[in-house]
Amino acid sequence: MSNADTKNRLAAVSKPLFVIPSHPIWPELSKKEEQQLKERIAELLEKQNGVLLAHYYTDARLQDLAEATGGCVADSLEMARFGTEHPADTLIVAGVRFMGETSKILNNEKRVLMPDLGATCSLDEGCPADQFSEFCDQYPDHTVVVYANTSAAVKARSDWVVTSGIALPIIKHLSENNKQIIWGPDKHLGSYVQRETGAEMIFWPGSCIVHEEFRSIALERVRKLYPDAAVLVHPESPEAVISQADVVGSTTALIEAVASLPNDAFIVATDKGIFSKMKKVAPSKTLIEAPTEGEGATCQSCARCPWMGMNSLQNLLEVLENGKNEVFVQADLAAKARIPIQRMLDFAQQMIKR
Ligand code: 13P
Ligand code: SF4
Repeated sequence: MSNADTKNRLAAVSKPLFVIPSHPIWPELSKKEEQQLKERIAELLEKQNGVLLAHYYTDARLQDLAEATGGCVADSLEMARFGTEHPADTLIVAGVRFMGETSKILNNEKRVLMPDLGATCSLDEGCPADQFSEFCDQYPDHTVVVYANTSAAVKARSDWVVTSGIALPIIKHLSENNKQIIWGPDKHLGSYVQRETGAEMIFWPGSCIVHEEFRSIALERVRKLYPDAAVLVHPESPEAVISQADVVGSTTALIEAVASLPNDAFIVATDKGIFSKMKKVAPSKTLIEAPTEGEGATCQSCARCPWMGMNSLQNLLEVLENGKNEVFVQADLAAKARIPIQRMLDFAQQMIKR
């Protein structure tokens, strides 16, 4: 297939494949109602031997509840790991679908529930397994590395799964072993990793609708207003935004930076849900939102993932009450997808030991 054909194919698949929902608006809760909901959920978690895994981008009340009930509030790598080590029979994943699927793939014997099975991700939606597989077929001698934000079927087509927390060392390791890499689906994270490692990589053209909206020129203006602030950027952001960062990293790395850097203020380019944890680890520090296209008319996400927003105390209670929204992954796909996920977890384990 010629380069032009490949480009045309990529142009074709980069047409919108999904509809971006507006950010869900949940009914206001009084303090008393919130407390009652939390108590009832905690009671059901205990009764059902369940544990709550919440991503840093979810509603602060879910994060608080996960912590208060012995669950975890974490990035996608840690959520995957935590579920495998916890003795609970039921994992309740407050996050997006790929996180629920990964938990199920790694814990087939456990029941995995999600507050809303429609909570997906633009990277997952923008990378249909059949098209991705065809794309990979064109480069049979390449190692296929996919971001965790993908379906079980895409993972099953890969050699390695990575999260943003571990992408750099894994690609560095592959590159040092002279591997040529197909990377999917986040082109921004992929090209960041390529710039950092010099690896030979071919990209699937996906992107995160939240991080893609951070604006580099507006960020330059904000930096002038707060010259002493450190700039923290998630690597799903465009290159012109990443190039202004003091720290580029996974959600966990950005939280650690707020806690450990001496700066009093931080400009943060990632989903605003993360501010809840950042305020906990560094209550005296000032957190400034990196600019998107503005809170008004034009921006689609305004730094809030609409799919993460589909998780609430209300629908979490519902799934515990009625057992709805169980996550299932076809056995053959799960068996294939487990291999590259486990490869990543084993690599992470080796890194800790080193
Ligand atoms: P982390 O792996 O850093 O948690 O990121 C997941 C994600 O969806 C970021 O948009
Ligand atoms: Fe996907 Fe972006 Fe939402 Fe993360 S923030 S779940 S990458 S759409």
